[in-house]
Amino acid sequence: MTSEQPSPFPPGLPITTQRLCIQPFDPENLTHCKFLAQLWNTDDFINSCGKTSIDSPEKAAAFIRRRILADYAQNRHGQFLVSRLEENDPAKLIGCVSLMKGSPPGPHYLAPDIGFTILPEESGKGFASEAARELIDWARRELDIHAVFGFCAPDNARSRRVLEKSGLEYRGSAALRVFGDQVSAIYALPDMDSDLGVYNMTEEVHGAASEGS
Ligand SMILES: CC(C)(COP(=O)(O)OP(=O)(O)OC[C@H]1O[C@@H](n2cnc3c(N)ncnc32)[C@H](O)[C@@H]1OP(=O)(O)O)[C@@H](O)C(=O)NCCC(=O)NCCS
Repeated sequence: MTSEQPSPFPPGLPITTQRLCIQPFDPENLTHCKFLAQLWNTDDFINSCGKTSIDSPEKAAAFIRRRILADYAQNRHGQFLVSRLEENDPAKLIGCVSLMKGSPPGPHYLAPDIGFTILPEESGKGFASEAARELIDWARRELDIHAVFGFCAPDNARSRRVLEKSGLEYRGSAALRVFGDQVSAIYALPDMDSDLGVYNMTEEVHGAASEGS
């Protein structure tokens, strides 16, 4: 008798809205692997997030297997594909949305952070903020996660706007150990504790109020 293998994918997916579908990455799906290699090699992505070593579908498949599926197994969240739903083209992949959390012994906080990337030609249509809001709602509903951070470079006005539109509020800036002590703007869901130390964020946060955000 063979027992059924547990699914490697998180529960309650895909998430579909009128415009978007959010689904897990599958390393056996060549379309997913090609898309990840394409998305992470646009000038827009490289300028904001830096160059990765993922420059081919084969490397993307290995990365999905080794890192993305490991996140799904450990946290039940991680990086997900975003596609645009259209009548004639129901599976047009346009980006990626993520809920990521570090784990010990590395630097880590007790709440995951939301991230997003949308193809340059699909930017400016509200897709990143819509996908982020949906993923946060999904995490609440399916995973009982009620605390979510958002981080970005303080001068990345576009990402800051997306974080605000996703329902997060600015809490200040700090040199964060999770980013090798690089200064980051810190966003959090409005009902999260004002003392970010409860989420294991022990860095000195320079207040939002004085910066007039
Ligand atoms: C950042 C990114 C995800 C935005 O995706 P998107 O689908 O265009 O985002 P949305 O359409 O939901 O929202 C963009 C908002 O930023 C605003 N915006 C765009 N450029 C801006 C700028 N230079 N300054 C301030 N706001 C800006 C838009 O007007 C829009 O706000 P609005 O709806 O109030 O007008 C996308 O451009 C991207 O993938 N960039 C490269 C990767 C990246 O930077 N990821 C984030 C790392 S923290």
